[in-house]
Amino acid sequence: MAEVKEQGVVTVVTLKPGEKVALCRCYRSKKFPFCDGSHKEEPGKGPAVVEVAKEASASS
Ligand code: FES
Repeated sequence: MAEVKEQGVVTVVTLKPGEKVALCRCYRSKKFPFCDGSHKEEPGKGPAVVEVAKEASASS
């Protein structure tokens, strides 16, 4: 699960390999910094989807 830390006016989201989240860009979300779909009230806005690649498996 993503870890969220508030550092002053900056929100830091730490993701693990393979995680995918939708980050709010409209500031309407009640689950900020994550998108909760509230952007649909404001046409032309939407989340930033961030996905972390899975770690490469060790090969011989
Ligand atoms: S709720 Fe803000 S982008 Fe979705």
